[in-house]
Order: sequence, then structure tokens, then C-alpha cells
Amino acid sequence: MITIPYLTALTTYFSYGLLFAFGQFRDFFRKIFDWWNSSNRQGYAPICLGNEDFYTRRLYLRIQDCFGRPISSAPDAWFDVVERYSNDHNKTLKRTDKVKHCLNLGSYNYLGFAAADEYCTPRAIESLKLFSPSTSSARADGGTTALHKELEEYVANFVGKPAAIVFGMGYVTNSAIIPVLIGKGGLIISDSLNHSSIINGARGSGATIRVFQHNTPSHLENVLREQIAEGQPRTHRPWKKIIVVVEGIYSMEGELCKLPEVVSICKKYKAYVYLDEAHSIGAVGRTGRGVCELLAVDTADVDVMMGTFTKSFGSCGGYIAGSKELIQFLKYACPAHLYGTSISPPAAQQIISAIKVILGEDGSSRGAQKLARIRENSNFFRSELQKMGFEVLGDNDSPIMPIMLYNPSKIPAFSRECLKQNVAVVTVGFPATPLLLGRARICISASHSREDLINALEVISKVGDLVGIKYFPAEPKKEHREDGTIKLD
Ligand SMILES: Cc1ncc(COP(=O)(O)O)c(C=O)c1O
Repeated sequence: MITIPYLTALTTYFSYGLLFAFGQFRDFFRKIFDWWNSSNRQGYAPICLGNEDFYTRRLYLRIQDCFGRPISSAPDAWFDVVERYSNDHNKTLKRTDKVKHCLNLGSYNYLGFAAADEYCTPRAIESLKLFSPSTSSARADGGTTALHKELEEYVANFVGKPAAIVFGMGYVTNSAIIPVLIGKGGLIISDSLNHSSIINGARGSGATIRVFQHNTPSHLENVLREQIAEGQPRTHRPWKKIIVVVEGIYSMEGELCKLPEVVSICKKYKAYVYLDEAHSIGAVGRTGRGVCELLAVDTADVDVMMGTFTKSFGSCGGYIAGSKELIQFLKYACPAHLYGTSISPPAAQQIISAIKVILGEDGSSRGAQKLARIRENSNFFRSELQKMGFEVLGDNDSPIMPIMLYNPSKIPAFSRECLKQNVAVVTVGFPATPLLLGRARICISASHSREDLINALEVISKVGDLVGIKYFPAEPKKEHREDGTIKLD
């Protein structure tokens, strides 16, 4: 649980309150002006949702230069950020021809496969020539190539399940599969901080949804026990089935799932476990096989293993891995498989090649080196940030490390100041996080060198002082003397 300093909470509420009041004031005058000009279509309701439209116009647009920055190179350790300017107080942003060469601390390029790779890139190019960028067809029609079959075998084998099915998009994998697995009369118990694609899938399924406190197995057990005792709403019949949905690494918190506890509770109450490994597959575990490997959980105890190829594998798409029976059923019943165009062949080839490198099947030890590197880099960066006095969320070994900013004015300040010093960071605020919990989300890659990380730490430390986000006292720096003793600053 995040405990917000009292004064920070107060100033954060005050800042949002001020923005809200000022926005409402401007909207009031806008309504009068609109009524005067009457440009709206008579008799139609506004097409944009009220509150969300207000948020976009009055809060988001002020700082939109910090988001959606166009990039003009591969998302490697360093990349080129296109410079933009605005002539209308940030309402619209125009691209220039200039770029800023920045250290990339924002992409999910955990193993470095998203940039040109000596093994993967030539093979992806070859498959592009052979198959073209698109199959222009759904899997059940003409959209299954030999590559798609090979990919499903590789994925199943890599994650430790008998079979797998792949989709062209990670988001769709969750939002389309959950409604096929469960429906009315079923119960989904979801972690309170699960990704939007899971929430979307759960809502679209028609099943009853209950939420348990983020990564708190004791609360999960309470919810399960209570719901089993109560049964379905009104009829109180037993639930048709129960699925518990968790993530391997929570993408906004950088936290590892308490999977061993979740699995043992689910076994006790005969609930299925659905694990989303978008950020953990390939990134953690001795051989990159995700949280099951890292936390010594038998993959046989996880019923539905979901993951995406957009992070560690530098490609696109998602997968579901499970029993042969489950995957066969999904292939017959999932509309996204039956009616959606299949994953692009070069993207499929990229994933197969990345898995081969991770497993050492390319004949090199690059995969093992990358895995060792991402772990060392992540743990070094996290501990240095903590020593400097930042409030950093998440667990050791996780390549995601959110730095808490809280106040809405600190979100753009941190992002812009870092960019000025050629460090590109991703900042996240409401509604992607709770109102008070704005943060910068650092993603570390195996392709960052130690020098890159030290450079980034220096910039972040300076910006942290400037913006005032070091919420804890810094640890005294240690200087190792030649005689073997240590001097503290
Ligand atoms: C936990 C989780 N699941 C699913 C997705 C969707 O994946 P994709 O971006 O590959 O569509 C994401 C995206 O980051 C995610 O964090």
C-alpha cells in the first residue's frame, strides 16, 4: 500500500481542485459563447462523454506534450524523439524536422529485441519477403501460415503448457478470450489493479465481477469464501465457474504477483487461475519463462496463461497457453480467432527468433546474457533510486520501477526537465492511476549499458531535486578508500 505524505495529499487535492474550478469557469463561458454562435447540431446529444471530455480539454491538453511523443527510430536504449511546438497553448502540437537523441527509459523493450538484432532482424525481413506484411485473412480462413503453427508450438513449449493460440494484439487477447471462457452465472475475481484489457474482457463477458485488494491473497480468500457461500445473485445457486485473474508483474506498480499464495487459495476453493504475463514473460526467471519460473510455481497449477509479445520479444500480439482441450475449444469458439486477421507473419517470425535466442537455439549465449543483464540493470537502478530518496514502487528483479510524483504539476515538470537533458521518461496520471498517485514509470532494458544508467541516475537526481520529489532522506554516499575503509559523506 502506498502511504501518501499528508502535505503532498493536501497540495495534490488542492491542485486538482484549482484545475477543476478553473476548467468549469472556462466551460461556463464557452457554453454561453456556443449558445450565441449555435454551431452545435440542433437536437443531437453531445457525441463526447461529459466528464471525460472535460478532463481532456481542461486538464490533459495543458500537458499533452508529455504524452504521445512521436519517435523517429527503433525503441532501443537510445532513440530519436521528434521535437514539437505549439502556437495555441498546447491545444495542438506541430512536428518539426528536428529530433532529440534521448536515453530511452520508457519502452517495454526489456530484452532489447525491439531494435535491430543480428539474429532476429534478417529472419523477420526474409519472412516479410516470403509472406508479406499481412495474411489478409482470418486464421480459420487463409490466415494460418506454417509460421503461425510453428509460433504456437514454440510458445507452448516456452511457457510450459501443452498448447497455445496466438492473436494479433495483446489487448484483444484478454478482451476477447475472457468472454469466451466465462459468461452469465460465472464469477470473475479480479485484482483491483488489473490491466484495462482484463477489465474490458471481464465486463464484456456478462459474468459477475468481484475485485480483491491489489496483490492481497488474504483478501482474495475472503472474497472467494464469501462469494461461494452466497452463490449467484438473487437465485443463490452455486456459481457455474470461478476464475481468478492476476498479472505476473503489475505494469503500473512494478510489483510481482504473490502467485504461490494465489495458486494455493484457488486450489483450495476450486477456482481457475488466469495469469496475464504481459510484462513478466521473457523478462524474469532464470531462463526467461516468467513469474512461474521465478517464484517456483508449477505451470500445471495455472489454468490459463496469457502473455503478450510486445514487451520482451520486440514484436506484437498475444497468446493464451493451456491444456490441449482448452486451446482446441478457443480455436472453435473465439470470435477474435475466427474473424480477426491473423498476426502478421514477420511479427510471428520475430517472436520465434527471439525465443530461439532466449533458449540459446541460435547457437550463442546472447539470450542468457540478456537475461542476466536485465536483472542486474533493474536491481542496480532500483537500489540507486531508493538510495537517492525517491519513493520507488515494485519488487527486486522487476524491470518496471515507478517513481512517485503525486502532484499533477510535478508530472509535466518531471517529464519536460528530463527531456531537456536528453532522458525520455513516461509519466502517468489520472485516470490511468488513482487521482493522487501520479508517477513516472521507468522501464529498464537489457540493452542499457552501465554508463547509460549512471547518466540517467544523475539526470533524474538533479531533476528530482528541482521538482521536489525526493520524499525520503538520501542514504549517505559511501566512498571506498584505498586502505579498505569506507568514508561516509
Ligand atoms: C498486463 C497487460 N495485459 C495486456 C496488455 C495489452 O498488451 P498489448 O500492448 O500487447 O496490446 C498490456 C499492455 O501493456 C498489459 O500491461
